[in-house]
Amino acid sequence: MRVFLPIFLFAAMSQAQTPPAPPIANIAGRTTTSLNGPWHIIVDPLETGLNAAYYRNRKPKDKRELVEYDFEASETLNVPGDWNTQKEKLLFYEGPIWYEKTFSWAKHEHTRVFAHFGAVNYRARIYCNGELLGEHEGGYTPFDFEVTKLLHDGDNFLMVEASNQRRQEGIPSLQTDWWNYGGLTRDVMLIETPETFIRDYWVQLAKGARDQIDGWIQLDGNHSSEQRVSIEIPEAGIKASAITDGQGRAGFHLPAKLQLWSTKNPKLYDVLISSADDAVHDSIGFRTIETRGSQILLNGEPIFLRGISLHEEAPVRGGRAYSADDAQTLLGWAKELGCNFVRLAHYPHNENEIRLADRMGLLVWSEIPVYWDVAWKDPATLANARAQLRDMIARDHNRAAVILWSLSNETPAKPERLAFLRTLAEDARQFDPTRLITSALNSAENTGPDQQILKDPMGEFLDVLGLNEYYGWYGGRPEDADRQTWTIAYDKPLVVSEFGGGAPYGRHGDAESRWTEEYQASLFVHQLNMVNKIPQLAGLTPWVLMDFRSPRRPLAGIQDYYNRKGLFSNTGQRKQAFFVLQKFYRDMQAHEAPAR
Ligand code: GCU
Repeated sequence: MRVFLPIFLFAAMSQAQTPPAPPIANIAGRTTTSLNGPWHIIVDPLETGLNAAYYRNRKPKDKRELVEYDFEASETLNVPGDWNTQKEKLLFYEGPIWYEKTFSWAKHEHTRVFAHFGAVNYRARIYCNGELLGEHEGGYTPFDFEVTKLLHDGDNFLMVEASNQRRQEGIPSLQTDWWNYGGLTRDVMLIETPETFIRDYWVQLAKGARDQIDGWIQLDGNHSSEQRVSIEIPEAGIKASAITDGQGRAGFHLPAKLQLWSTKNPKLYDVLISSADDAVHDSIGFRTIETRGSQILLNGEPIFLRGISLHEEAPVRGGRAYSADDAQTLLGWAKELGCNFVRLAHYPHNENEIRLADRMGLLVWSEIPVYWDVAWKDPATLANARAQLRDMIARDHNRAAVILWSLSNETPAKPERLAFLRTLAEDARQFDPTRLITSALNSAENTGPDQQILKDPMGEFLDVLGLNEYYGWYGGRPEDADRQTWTIAYDKPLVVSEFGGGAPYGRHGDAESRWTEEYQASLFVHQLNMVNKIPQLAGLTPWVLMDFRSPRRPLAGIQDYYNRKGLFSNTGQRKQAFFVLQKFYRDMQAHEAPAR
């Protein structure tokens, strides 16, 4: 007689533990064993696996025993990678899929081992050798679970129940204008550390200073307090050490004479963080980012953010981007466009993309997917958003390229939304007092013929205002944009974070005909004329670099489940609007003061 544990009991068990802390920093600088490659899978729409305890990965002990699953004989999916684009039958699938990976391990004395996931969309329950490690919610931030005591010499196995089921109380909630790519969408690896190791560190210029490094090092382990830890930047002649406190943390305030990181000279230093038993190298750039009235200052100099928005969609191949090549193509296209800035919509992108932006000198707007309407009054939803914000900042807080943390996109102007996002703004400033806080707002109002105003109360607690407006696409005609005047109710920098229109590559006609490249190009011309007259304009990230899949865009023969507002088609062809924006940015650069 099979005993079925009621689901609520499993639910209680699955609360056993959520990831206890922000993710371990700088995975690339650690001793790791990759678990990328084929994982056996079982598609499980009715969540049979939880009741049947798939996570035990059992085989029948004799010819009579009934076991109704067999991972070893099951099909596979490649990790990293979404499941939707790996198997035709999974393109629209939303639900649980069980992933299993058997790997061989040789235990070492005095080390600890963590299972690290770059991201799992959207919820994951993680098991090691049949034991529940815990669960994680949020599709775009990394997490780790310690497996030290569960591993044995020889074969071990990890099991993940991943589900991309959308949830009312999720972050994002039920509606998104992007594909719900499910699965183990980023790298999976084992990290081996000393028993007391360097879990995280902060090495950046002090807010507003160009000759002072503010830093801290956080140890994790039984001997983390009263430990000597060091920061070395050999090329800058910096070497300092300190003793950790009772929480395993030590702070640093160091005079520094550094070549500052900038978009024209993205200087990175080799930084060595070390403790008694651990040492990690990182490549870190040093710069300041501030606002002065409606200007954004990079290293004290006003800078205009020539940007573009992009989803983490794989060029040509399609699906969730995950490789260094994907990042190189996408950011290379942004550079070709004339950009010094990218808005990574609408969720934290892969760490390899952020590190590439560091090397390329591309400034970054990074965002958590508090997208459209979410369950503003649900404490669990707020806790989830706060955890995703915490982990986005924890992963990238040493990346010079990142200058803006975005709390949300196009949220409705309700009191409960304001309270929710004010809490996130306070968190962001506490986690990282040096970067700027923003949000993409679509709350502009029409106050009379050709009069638009942005006075969203969120402006009180944002450093930079993002404005999404679709004049000429969702209302109005492109040629009407030239007559619009905009009032921004705050003396703060404005980034027009979205405008655009759709056109499949190669569809041509007159500029009055929607869905033609000519209409899209005309819309860009008129939009650029309009936004360029806004006095507070400090940057642009038009929508969008490349066409991307969306379940909301079914128009046969034109969209075919793609949002066609890209300047590039999803196979990398440049539309006419690409050249309109490229010329605008090139003309702007021609008038810029030469780099000092
Ligand atoms: C919205 C939203 C985007 C969406 C775009 C569009 O404003 O922020 O995620 O894709 O507009 O409608 O194409």
